[in-house]
Amino acid sequence: MTDGAPSGITFRAGEERDLPACNRIWRESIDAYLLPMGLPPLPEDNPSLRRLHAHTMATDPSRFVVAERRKRAGRRQVVAFGSAVERGPLWFLSMLFVEPGEQARGVGRGLLAQILPAPLDSRVLATCTDSAQPISNGLYASFGIVPRMPLFNLIGRPRPGFDWPALPTGVVAKRVAEYEAWRGDPEVHALDRSILGFAHPEDHAFVLGEPRRAFTYRAPDGGLVAYGYAGDVGRVGPIAVTDPALLAPVLGHLLAAVEPRGASSVWLPGDAGEAIRVAIRAGLRIEGFPILASWSRPFADFTRYVPTSPGLI
Ligand SMILES: CC(C)(COP(=O)(O)OP(=O)(O)OC[C@H]1O[C@@H](n2cnc3c(N)ncnc32)[C@H](O)[C@@H]1OP(=O)(O)O)[C@@H](O)C(=O)NCCC(=O)NCCS
Repeated sequence: MTDGAPSGITFRAGEERDLPACNRIWRESIDAYLLPMGLPPLPEDNPSLRRLHAHTMATDPSRFVVAERRKRAGRRQVVAFGSAVERGPLWFLSMLFVEPGEQARGVGRGLLAQILPAPLDSRVLATCTDSAQPISNGLYASFGIVPRMPLFNLIGRPRPGFDWPALPTGVVAKRVAEYEAWRGDPEVHALDRSILGFAHPEDHAFVLGEPRRAFTYRAPDGGLVAYGYAGDVGRVGPIAVTDPALLAPVLGHLLAAVEPRGASSVWLPGDAGEAIRVAIRAGLRIEGFPILASWSRPFADFTRYVPTSPGLI
């Protein structure tokens, strides 16, 4: 594929053997703008990023594309990659990264053209960008994918004795034990559809495999009013609730129910203001720059949803 490609660059579908190169490009291209700002380098290995790349490649193989540059003796080297997932009406850009030496020459825009849906009109286009990155924010905004809402990475543990808002009387939290039944549970998918506009069982399977533990929250009549995930290494999310007032109590329950070895970490949307307020009061701290959730038109209710991560809604 050479359509829209800068000179010497070709595009092709990504394969599993490309994943180490993608991980390297991700790290080097972020370090290239964060190190000059005095932030520490990213770790060499990032197992959770590797798993996310493998997941998006498995669910959306045609939307995982790499860019190669022709080197001497006909050798080709992967210098950039992009990946997107389609879930219902949503096209979500998970990753777009160009090696620092190859940036600002049209490689990113060319890659994007390869993985954007055609035609665009019936789709919601969305992604999460780094607020410290004017290039990606500008590039995506030129497709109508405009930054609309911050996501804050809150890290830490609630102070012992902190009076976190409790679940309403009668709402019962339970750890999910039967994952097969859980993944097929129509109530879960109906809740996702009411918040996001689509069900995404494949992403629930991914989160369980991370592994994160799933919890249900049921009203006295047995109906599902919320679900949430938390993992032993501290990642919390996704969380989905029927009523915005449940978001902070469910977050508090998850933080208490799964005590990680280190700190907990959760990406809270700006629209989930009460959960952010309580988390900060409890002692969690905002880490780094906010991420900007960007979309071409509104598609989700972020007063009722905490995403899995900025790379996967
Ligand atoms: C962001 C990134 C993928 C873009 O790829 P790239 O190959 O460098 O970008 P391109 O040259 O294809 O296009 C960049 C576009 O952004 C535009 N742009 C750059 N700075 C801008 C700014 N301050 N405001 C608005 N637009 C801007 C450029 O004008 C260009 O548009 P053009 O094609 O109309 O000239 C790449 O720079 C990168 O990997 N950066 C570091 C990692 C990162 O932030 N990735 C995005 C994850 S959210």
